[in-house]
Amino acid sequence: MPELSVNVDHVATLRQARGGKQPDPVAAAMIAELAGADGIIVHLREDRRHIQDRDLELLRKTIKTRLNLEMANTEEIMQIALKVKPDLVTFVPERRQELTTEGGLDVLANQAPLTKNIQKLKKAGIKTSLFINADPYQIKASKRVGADFVEIHTGKYADALDEKTKQKEFQQIARGIRQARRLGLRVNIGHGLDYQNVHPFTAIPGIEDYSIGHSIISRAVLVGLDRAVREMKRLISPMDDGR
Ligand code: PXP
Repeated sequence: MPELSVNVDHVATLRQARGGKQPDPVAAAMIAELAGADGIIVHLREDRRHIQDRDLELLRKTIKTRLNLEMANTEEIMQIALKVKPDLVTFVPERRQELTTEGGLDVLANQAPLTKNIQKLKKAGIKTSLFINADPYQIKASKRVGADFVEIHTGKYADALDEKTKQKEFQQIARGIRQARRLGLRVNIGHGLDYQNVHPFTAIPGIEDYSIGHSIISRAVLVGLDRAVREMKRLISPMDDGR
């Protein structure tokens, strides 16, 4: 059965907009788990623009499913990963100016540093995944560097402006998944998946985990807004002030 891991970075983005305590991504993770999420994902970025070290530490202590830490392959974040011990580390490329993770990781160009840190994480009992485009060379390189998983980037599929491009991207991802599985890699997918575009992937065997954030948090804002407004209306009603 394919599983769903919910990325709660965007809850932290909203909190950071005011620099306060709410909404708390740790609370969001608990609600996601109660609703059936199979895992929780956070990206601890070098610039700490959304998830903070405190979030990661609390999530490790509180969540009951799996914690997937997305991170750049840097010394500082490696030390944190080795201390916190997530269930899975997903290496992603990271650029400070980007709005979100843009392309896949260039595993071919970074084989030595990836091999070294994948080994270190393995020794600490932490599984590893590489966020890559569905490119045959990147998939082969992911096997060579010793990763347990690849996470195939679905962003281009999600962003395709016409049906032909979308189909082309979908077929490329499907081929990538087959190749990765033949090589013995486990497969996750993610980026830009939403309520309209996720369904076709259910026809592809072997996807272990869907990594989805933005569309779920966006929908939560909208489906929750009706109740939130009603609750505030009730609070400001003179009938309800406790006197
Ligand atoms: N997978 C990776 C590696 C990501 O960086 C992200 C975005 O944080 C996602 C999945 C989830 O993408 P989205 O927020 O578009 O669902």
